[in-house]
Amino acid sequence: MKAFIIDRYGKKETGRIADMPAPEMREDDVLVRIHAASVNALDSKIRSGEFKLILPYRLPLILGNDVAGTVVRVGPRVSRFKPGDEVYGRPDQDRIGGFADFIAVREASLALKPANLSMEEAASVPLVALTAWQALVETAKLKKGQKVLIHAGSGGVGTIAIQLAKHLGANVTTTTSTGNVEWVKALGADTVIDYKEQDFAAAPRDYDVVLNSLGGDVLKRSLQVLKPGGQLISISGPPTPEFADQQGLSWPLKQVLRLLSQGIRKRAKRLGLTYTFVFMRADGEQLRKITSLIESGSINPVVDRVFPFDATADALAYLDRGRAKGKVVVKIG
Ligand SMILES: NC(=O)c1ccc[n+]([C@@H]2O[C@H](COP(=O)([O-])OP(=O)(O)OC[C@H]3O[C@@H](n4cnc5c(N)ncnc54)[C@H](OP(=O)(O)O)[C@@H]3O)[C@@H](O)[C@H]2O)c1
Repeated sequence: MKAFIIDRYGKKETGRIADMPAPEMREDDVLVRIHAASVNALDSKIRSGEFKLILPYRLPLILGNDVAGTVVRVGPRVSRFKPGDEVYGRPDQDRIGGFADFIAVREASLALKPANLSMEEAASVPLVALTAWQALVETAKLKKGQKVLIHAGSGGVGTIAIQLAKHLGANVTTTTSTGNVEWVKALGADTVIDYKEQDFAAAPRDYDVVLNSLGGDVLKRSLQVLKPGGQLISISGPPTPEFADQQGLSWPLKQVLRLLSQGIRKRAKRLGLTYTFVFMRADGEQLRKITSLIESGSINPVVDRVFPFDATADALAYLDRGRAKGKVVVKIG
């Protein structure tokens, strides 16, 4: 089958289209013919080698962490899906490979594709929507009337997180640049901070939750706007020792993460706040809940650009520029 692979890790590695063997099926796997896959910052980070200690893959590796397609075959233990079903999902982190003609995905990580979405729109959803869900619903337990600050509201995670937080009844503030202010308002944000003109950290200390997807300086200064008992949730690091336990990482690596996150954990504690690093995971059940929100119109996925399969490296380069509004998708079938 045709696949977009990397042969080695490194900043100079772009990846290439190659002929690869069809995926091997396990008993609880669903074989999906992929029609569209979306691009995530994670793909670039895996490609550069940034994640090789946390996610050790065998090379050559097919990249791609989000798929939408049609079920071709199911393993003997699969009960939820049958050939012909249209599905979408984020494959398990140790079995990625969305930029390919086919992928075998564990049944528990898939869901039926929302009926009102195209394959390209559906492929844009799983990783970022599960991230938003696991940050705002599972970790923050965000409630009606609470105030949340979502950084980078125009990005892949931000566009979904704003809509999910509004659905939960929260009051949403987000940050974006001047040209995107009206656009993120239309997504539902109550207050928009133009980071080119205003300093978000000058806001009063009255946020219950901050969702950070930006760098260390934004992370640190986010502590200033949280009220006592507030939660700082970061998806862009630094990872914590708890994350090391969840991932089953080695003891030395856990100590490295302890040191990396020590500063922010201590600062948060001193202020009576909590700091959590969320690293999203595949979850078909949560994805089904997200499907309902999409089908009821509470969440509308946002696709910035669709690239042809042969231009997967260009799609990654486009995302790497950091200016995408919503998601970048690769059309496969
Ligand atoms: N831990 C996890 O499980 C997990 C899951 C998903 C993503 N992530 C991480 O989260 C980060 C964001 O992912 P993403 O997919 O949302 O990224 P993205 O789609 O590439 O984000 C692009 C957006 O970021 C905005 N932006 C850039 N700098 C900004 C700033 N200083 N303030 C406000 N907005 C800014 C840009 O808006 P402007 O053009 O207006 O600046 C652009 O719309 C990445 O580092 C990714 O690796 C982690």
